[in-house]
Formats: sequence, structure tokens, C-alpha cells
Amino acid sequence: MKIIICKNYEELSSTAANLIKDQIISKKDSVLGLATGSSPLKTYEKLVDLYKNNLLDFSEIKSVNLDEYKGLTKDNTNSYYFFMKENFFNKINIKEENINIPNGMALDELEECENYEEKINSLGGIDLQLLGIGHNGHIAFNEPASHFSKKTHCVELSESTIKANSRFFETEDEVPKKAFTMGIGTIFKAKKIILIASGKDKAKIIKEAFFSEVNPNVPASILQFHKDVIIILDEDAASLINKF
Ligand code: GLP
Repeated sequence: MKIIICKNYEELSSTAANLIKDQIISKKDSVLGLATGSSPLKTYEKLVDLYKNNLLDFSEIKSVNLDEYKGLTKDNTNSYYFFMKENFFNKINIKEENINIPNGMALDELEECENYEEKINSLGGIDLQLLGIGHNGHIAFNEPASHFSKKTHCVELSESTIKANSRFFETEDEVPKKAFTMGIGTIFKAKKIILIASGKDKAKIIKEAFFSEVNPNVPASILQFHKDVIIILDEDAASLINKF
């Protein structure tokens, strides 16, 4: 596990974008695992800038997103599909057929999960997975639990996640109660993982996840065992860890 501490969110985002750029340059048809939330927003902006300056080409890139709310249509402004189109995909030359996000409207949950897992496998797995982290240590929508989930599945969101994500909705009641999410096992199989976190509010969970024992109650802690993971923090998110 490698930890990079950046001055601020701006520098963190450039660092993450540059690592993603290196991945794309070394393999132009990379499979990128992508995340939503506020943390990756500026990383996407930086990648869009690189694209606009002709320094990156996404025409052969394949993307797989971590998760999607159950019950939201693609054109719902709170769906993760909409988020990804607005903040990233509409601004680069990725092909629509190469974009993969779980279908929040799928009627058969099990079938959707199996198909999504199969899709990732058929692409040859994830080359680089970008992650944020929830305040309770969740990655994607893998909530604290008694065990680490293996594959893509449909989850009940925890109260704290519903509360945290309600900032994007008009009222807390509008936040879907369930979501489709890659499993911890799905994420762990990615060849390379980058986790980004910024802000004082993430300091406590960063310390718990990466400087305490691996524990399914803090799902992100499993990343301590991954062979190629880079944690990129700003000084605020790193403020509770001892720096040597
Ligand atoms: C959501 C997403 C996660 C994300 C997390 C943190 O619950 N499903 O993938 O990492 O929120 O979001 P933020 O970056 O806004 O703190």
C-alpha cells in the first residue's frame, strides 16, 4: 500500500488524473473502474482537460462504474449514469457502447448482478479502479458488515450513507434505499487501485481503514492486502495519521 499526501484537493486531483493518464497511455484499451461522489469530480475535470489538449484519447477505453441506485432511471439527475455523463463521459470521446453502469431499473436484481459481474469478466477484468470512501468506510456501496461481499449484489443502504448522500437530493426521503454495487471481491480483483479522500471529515475513517486491523466493519480496510493500491489524500484527510 502506497500513500501519497498532497497539499490540497487540487493537487490530489492532478495526482490521481496523472496516474489514470499513465494507465491509458500504457494501454489504450484499458478497462477503467470509475466512481461517483464528490471526491473524483476534479480528477474527471483534469482528465477532460488532458483530452481537450489532445493529450489523452478515450476512444478505445472501456469503463465500468462501481454502483447505481436501484429505482432511478438513466435520465434521473440523481442517477449515477446521469452523474457520469454530465461530469465526464459527455466531455470526452469514450464510446457509448463501452460505458458500463449497473441498470438501476432492472427488475430482476439477481440477473442484473450476475450480468454485470460477467460483463466485467468478459472485458478481462479492471485494469485500474478509482475509489472514494464513505464516512463509515464503505467503498462503492459495500456497507460495514460481518463479512466482505464477493460479487456484484444489491444492497440496503445504511442510515449514515442515506444521510450523507441526501445532500444531492431535495429531501432525505428521496434517497433510494437500495443500490446495485460491485462486491469487495469484484473491486479487489482490479489490477491497480487508486483511492482518493479529501477533507477533515474523512480523517477519522482514513486512520481506521488503513492504520488499524483489516475488518469487514470497515470495508475499505481490505485494501491493505491488495498488491497495487495507492491511497491519495490531502493534508486534511491525512491529519490523523502519523507521518514518519
Ligand atoms: C457514495 C458512493 C461511493 C463514494 C462515496 C463517498 O456512497 N457510492 O462510491 O466513494 O459516496 O462520496 P464522496 O466522495 O462524495 O465523499
